[in-house]
Amino acid sequence: MNPSDAGFRFFPPIWLEEVSSTNDHLKELLAAGESVAAGMVVAARRQVRGKGRMGGVWQSSPKGDLTFSFYWRSDRPPVTVATLPMACALAVRDFLALPPWNIRTQCKWPNDVLANNAKICGILAEGGDTRSGGFGLVVGIGVNLRRVSGRDEAIGRRTATVEDHYPEVGDPFELLPILLDCLAVRIEIWERSGFEGIRGDLVDCLWGVGQNVTAKTTNGTVRGIVAGLAEGGELVLKGDDGTDTKVASVTALDGWEIPA
Ligand code: BTN
Repeated sequence: MNPSDAGFRFFPPIWLEEVSSTNDHLKELLAAGESVAAGMVVAARRQVRGKGRMGGVWQSSPKGDLTFSFYWRSDRPPVTVATLPMACALAVRDFLALPPWNIRTQCKWPNDVLANNAKICGILAEGGDTRSGGFGLVVGIGVNLRRVSGRDEAIGRRTATVEDHYPEVGDPFELLPILLDCLAVRIEIWERSGFEGIRGDLVDCLWGVGQNVTAKTTNGTVRGIVAGLAEGGELVLKGDDGTDTKVASVTALDGWEIPA
């Protein structure tokens, strides 16, 4: 599909020299009642308080990484919206596969992107804006373009960067429109066909299939071998007795760590 055919459109990104967090910036605009249109994109040259999932911190290179957030709205039930960030992860994978960098990646459920078993992209979706019906989501995406000294030690795991694979990595300002095109294509497919429209591609590149994990959910603990993704985007675990259990929101997933 040609990106220009995509039905979902982004507005030209608003670039900020420095911001606490692009997610927080968009959320503050929403909270202040500012007009925030679906498809609005805020990107930052530098985030001073970049946020990761589960209350973590997102560190970026002062020499320039991709750190941006966009606003999205839907009339769909919020439960189905949970899979939108997975479509975004797939779009980042599409972007990273492009020449000249040609980086092969895998998607780690729910929405990380890994290169050589190390995280190269993280996505933080924050929701809850239900103004004038529908459901709004702020989706923040960080793609590591350049190495940051001490980052792996600080967060206790290896990270990957585009620079590791392609030293001539360009300016985020020039790269963002390319990534937005990839995102628009996957979001359009997701809007037309729902999670089913992306499930096959995601399963094909799913990291950790066959791994033994223990998922702690609000309903208890489930053990099993990662077998794939269910129709609602849940991780499917196959138990010793051969039965499949779907896990959606987990509070912890032991055995799902990337090897050091
Ligand atoms: C994760 O922990 O995997 C999620 C990381 C998300 C980082 C991005 S960078 C742009 C946006 N602003 C933030 O503060 N976080 C997200």
